[in-house]
Amino acid sequence: MVDIHSHILSGLDDGAATLEDSIAMLRLAAESGTTDIVATPHANTEFSFDPGLIGQKIAELQDAAGPLPRIHRGCDFHLTLENIQDALAHPPKYAINHLCYLLVEFSDLLIPRTTQEIFDRLQGAGLTPIVTHPERNALLHTRLDQLQSWVENGALVQVTAGSLLGVFGRTAKSIATQLMNRNLVHFIASDAHDTRHRTPVLRDAYEYVEKAWNPSLAKLLFITAPQAVIVGEEIKLLDPAPVPANKKWYRFGF
Ligand SMILES: [Fe+2]
Repeated sequence: MVDIHSHILSGLDDGAATLEDSIAMLRLAAESGTTDIVATPHANTEFSFDPGLIGQKIAELQDAAGPLPRIHRGCDFHLTLENIQDALAHPPKYAINHLCYLLVEFSDLLIPRTTQEIFDRLQGAGLTPIVTHPERNALLHTRLDQLQSWVENGALVQVTAGSLLGVFGRTAKSIATQLMNRNLVHFIASDAHDTRHRTPVLRDAYEYVEKAWNPSLAKLLFITAPQAVIVGEEIKLLDPAPVPANKKWYRFGF
């Protein structure tokens, strides 16, 4: 499996605390079948983003942990004005493996009204936004139509593996399930921060998706689509699932 969202590098954000923690996280990932993992430290007002330092940390960790899983470069890109301006000026800087896919995390406090315009500009600069874990963002819960519209305009969606298993509560599980049923999920990733609570283990969620949906969808969301992301290839999209006209999103947060 290929995990496009993780905080396995130590000392850069609120993920792994030490190199030993990072190694333990990688072992867990490898044991559960992850062959490739993208290190995505936060870039926000709290944590600065330094690609040079990230490259050094990845080399150090890969050397210490062994060849598998292979570690790739990435960023947990928060949609701040400063970040947006910098990404538009230097498009590959924050992208996964400095190619063309950009993880985008929304604040819990504000979804910009101009999000589509921001996405258009990012896409115009050659970056495909991947909205991270909308099922865990209370504001996005009330704007699922908007999320769907962003996807119709070229954005992609990553759901957290633990959400499908109920780790983040019933609401996150329910929203993740609705998104899955509407073919609005393109990747499932761990967003791992440690070895205990938010782990890099994907196997349980993979098996859950195989059973609750089907094996080919599990393969697509955990292997084929994220593999395309790390090499910068186009992913094959699922057709949007037909939704009866009278059937609305089951909403939360009102
Ligand atoms: Fe993250």
